[in-house]
Amino acid sequence: MSTTSDGTRAVRAGLPAPRQYEPTLPGPVFAAHFHLSGEPVGPYTYGRDTNPTWTLLEQAIGELEAPGERVETTVFASGMAAVSAVLLSGARAGDIVVLPDDGYQALPLVREQLEAYGVRVRTAPTSGDAQLRALDGAKLLWLETPCNPGLDVCDVRRLVAAAHGAGTLVAVDNTLATPLGQRPLELGADFSVASDTKAMTGHGDILLGHVTCKDPELSAGVRRWRKVVGAIPGPMEAWLAHRSLSTLHLRVDRQCGTALALAEFLSRRTDVTGLRYPGLPTDPSHPTALRQMRRFGSVVSFVLADKDTAERFLAGLRLVDDATSFGSVRSTAERRARWGGDAVPEGFIRLSVGAEDPDDLLADVENALAEAAR
Ligand SMILES: Cc1ncc(COP(=O)(O)O)c(C=O)c1O
Repeated sequence: MSTTSDGTRAVRAGLPAPRQYEPTLPGPVFAAHFHLSGEPVGPYTYGRDTNPTWTLLEQAIGELEAPGERVETTVFASGMAAVSAVLLSGARAGDIVVLPDDGYQALPLVREQLEAYGVRVRTAPTSGDAQLRALDGAKLLWLETPCNPGLDVCDVRRLVAAAHGAGTLVAVDNTLATPLGQRPLELGADFSVASDTKAMTGHGDILLGHVTCKDPELSAGVRRWRKVVGAIPGPMEAWLAHRSLSTLHLRVDRQCGTALALAEFLSRRTDVTGLRYPGLPTDPSHPTALRQMRRFGSVVSFVLADKDTAERFLAGLRLVDDATSFGSVRSTAERRARWGGDAVPEGFIRLSVGAEDPDDLLADVENALAEAAR
């Protein structure tokens, strides 16, 4: 599959070899245990350890994360299960971990857990290379690029080179980009991690996550952690996720195209400030994004005058649901400050572009901006 292009790869990823009278994508295998006599060796023994539906999905994700390479993927019950598997499975008292201070808002909860275990946590913003000054003695550097919700981007290759020089492992949370937008392992990272609740599955109806590694030892640690904490996906979710991957390129291409059109439209508005989209040529992250990303994601962030204006804007949208999360085929937007935890102004909007017709979506946003101004 290494010579095929993104769309073809997504459509065929993880499919078993054709077998007469078998479906192209076998259905979900619901099993807590498998027939097993004699020595308890795999591939399928007990449902918390392995499941044939996960195996196919893990193969599919691996083919997208690192086409043509030997990698190991472990799927989890949610993005946070995948994030915690990398951050907590290898953590030992006295270790140093570097986290972004502008990443996903549940990271501070993991930080508290790490510190409770005696791990020292340093933080650095995503942009500006401040991570370089935090690497001394660190065991793991955690990057989230583009970061959620600020959409800053860091130079993964440069940070990996410095981190590996200092003996530090690097994990990249690739949720926003998906492997069609950015391939962290190709950029040198040791772990590519994602919440597949977002664009990977793309319909706003599944929670899922994954970790992909080249190094079998690192992968074994992650897989062991899944067994220990039991953060396993249900077979139905895993199967739906695999089915959804076959349209990943269609969804992501459409969403990225419309997101850029929306960002261009918003850049001409005087009632919008703080506009961010890494694909916009004028965005501060664009030069770095261009070097390492192939698609720039579905999320556009911007700031309206104040909380009330932002709430009127959200209420005025007809095609965009006021809801959290991102990456769905149905557009969503929210006033991010309502959660607390993100360092954003009260009028900060995170809008995730769906697969609607671009003209309809832009007209809806324009209309809601007019209603917000009343
Ligand atoms: C960048 C990022 N990483 C991880 C997560 C956690 O994923 P989940 O909600 O699937 O646990 C999220 C959720 O929004 C996220 O945005």
